[in-house]
Amino acid sequence: MTSHATTAVSHDALRRIEGWLAWTDFAIMRRLVSEQNATGGAVAEIGVHHGKSFIALAAFSGRRPLYAVDLFGDQASNIDKSGAGSRERFVANLDRFGIDRRRITIDERLSSAVTADDMRRVAGAVSFFHVDGGHHLAAVTGDIDLALSVLTDDGIIAFDDTFRPEWPEVSMAVFGHGRLQQDFRMFAIGFNKSFWCRPEHVARYRDALLGDDELMALLMKQHEVDDRHILVFQTYPLPEWPLRRQLSWWLSVYWPGLYRRIRQWRR
Ligand SMILES: C[S@@+](CC[C@H](N)C(=O)[O-])C[C@H]1O[C@@H](n2cnc3c(N)ncnc32)[C@H](O)[C@@H]1O
Repeated sequence: MTSHATTAVSHDALRRIEGWLAWTDFAIMRRLVSEQNATGGAVAEIGVHHGKSFIALAAFSGRRPLYAVDLFGDQASNIDKSGAGSRERFVANLDRFGIDRRRITIDERLSSAVTADDMRRVAGAVSFFHVDGGHHLAAVTGDIDLALSVLTDDGIIAFDDTFRPEWPEVSMAVFGHGRLQQDFRMFAIGFNKSFWCRPEHVARYRDALLGDDELMALLMKQHEVDDRHILVFQTYPLPEWPLRRQLSWWLSVYWPGLYRRIRQWRR
């Protein structure tokens, strides 16, 4: 069984925070940022809302610097209405989970106003960059540009809602971004996030995920075509599925702990 950098923040504990973070995505991020603790770099998130995913990233990234971006009070500029961040709740949640505020820069602006220099000056280059702010084409494209300009060589970019039908412009931005498509590879698909890095680092991160027994119980497929190796932890339920398979999917999403125990017991 893999040991994690800290066990202080569990997915169950994060249920108390309003926001969006499936267990699978929590576990993938936990494994990847823990893996990076040996090599360093800052952790950044655009779209922190009330801190649900940010606190998970903070908890597992040791003493590394953290950079949080959200327009918070300026909700008139949140043109696609992807959540509505609150600085007060974000900060209260950081304190509630004992996250050391000295590690964190909170940048309360539209992400389009944030530059790579702003981030580098206070946090240095970023090795884990979570894009979960504005969900329209211009916002996500700009956030990808920012991530690419501040990322370490071994950096990971995670995108929320990459394949979610309700947010088609996230998919358009991710798969239409020439430099991302040319220089990076998607190496994992979680419940609602995709994970990307440069091709020469895919094996490192894939091995880290494959070494996590808890996550492996939720692996649905390994996609391997040419030089593309993608671990897939999600599947859409199909109308053709028998009841037993529908129930199994439901358990994997809503009761992942029980699902894992049943799978281990059946093996
Ligand atoms: C989907 S929520 C983020 C969810 C969060 N990561 C979580 O774990 O629950 C999107 C957040 O992005 C913020 N936001 C929306 N558009 C933005 C923009 N253009 N720049 C910065 N923040 C933005 C919103 O205020 C909201 O808090």
